[in-house]
Amino acid sequence: MAYRHIPAMLNEAIQSLNCRPGKTYTDCTLGGSGHAKAICERILPDGLFIGIDQDIDAIINAQKALQSYSSNIRLFHGNFINLPQYLAQLKIDAVDGILLDLGLSLHQLENSGRGFSFNKDEPLDMRMDNQSATTADDLVNNLAEEELRKVFKDYGEERWSRQIARKIVKNRAQKKIQTSKELAQIVRKAIPRRAPSERRIHPATRVFMALRIAVNKELEVLNAFMAGVADWLNPGGRLCVLSFHSLEDRIVKQHIKAMEKGCICPPKLPECACGKKSVMRSLTKKVLRPGDKEIAVNPMARSTRLRAAEKI
Ligand SMILES: C[S@@+](CC[C@H](N)C(=O)[O-])C[C@H]1O[C@@H](n2cnc3c(N)ncnc32)[C@H](O)[C@@H]1O
Repeated sequence: MAYRHIPAMLNEAIQSLNCRPGKTYTDCTLGGSGHAKAICERILPDGLFIGIDQDIDAIINAQKALQSYSSNIRLFHGNFINLPQYLAQLKIDAVDGILLDLGLSLHQLENSGRGFSFNKDEPLDMRMDNQSATTADDLVNNLAEEELRKVFKDYGEERWSRQIARKIVKNRAQKKIQTSKELAQIVRKAIPRRAPSERRIHPATRVFMALRIAVNKELEVLNAFMAGVADWLNPGGRLCVLSFHSLEDRIVKQHIKAMEKGCICPPKLPECACGKKSVMRSLTKKVLRPGDKEIAVNPMARSTRLRAAEKI
């Protein structure tokens, strides 16, 4: 089956990465290789492209989609948190651009069969990397009620987290919850009848997003990556992050702000004692969002937020 995904904010992302011929760029989230292809086209014939994805389907797709650049690309199946190890394997200290396009591809949502969508009746898996240990089934059927509530509240900002967690625990005591459809129906029943019509989104949207974030440890991984990213860029190298909800965007924004900040000594001190230097310069004082034209063609891009920064 063809790998389906339309790259979000393609022009803006490529522009902010400042792709230059002969330089080295890393796409940490290959997905359908749309951004990857655009980067490869700009850095050839002498540039090097490093592609990473924790989903083996994306790697298999990239091997075909980027075939014509094969002598200039290196692909890694794994988590982008392992970027330093991959660079060490290639004997590279740092790169000239890093792209993160977070979240799920359309392929994963619609065709992976892993229960990412509440519109499908599939096993509750939700792992992007099928070699990782914990599935959504494990969380839904084993977490204590309070832990479930916390997942829905913290990762989904779900208003009805308590009611939903209670309903899940009640249902699974009768029968294990096995599919995305079963879970979506339980969530729908847990939310007061008047509530769904108040919302513009499907009642299970936030619960599914929260479970996916928890299964893939998305926020912990993003936080750890952003804490190290400046070390993996050459001076003048660019970072571009596309995120899809406020929890991710907040992490990206806070890290860029912290990397931009120099001395953090109290103003009373006559001279700097902390030694902290500014290591990155933000290129997007205000977050960039897709235009109406793009959203009309690719509704999945509607919540994209782009932030970029340059290594000093
Ligand atoms: C939105 S898609 C990327 C789409 C891609 N930019 C394109 O043009 O088609 C996100 C991809 O990132 C991958 N991904 C998400 N988190 C990851 C992580 N921590 N490490 C590696 N890959 C990750 C997912 O498996 C998915 O394939």
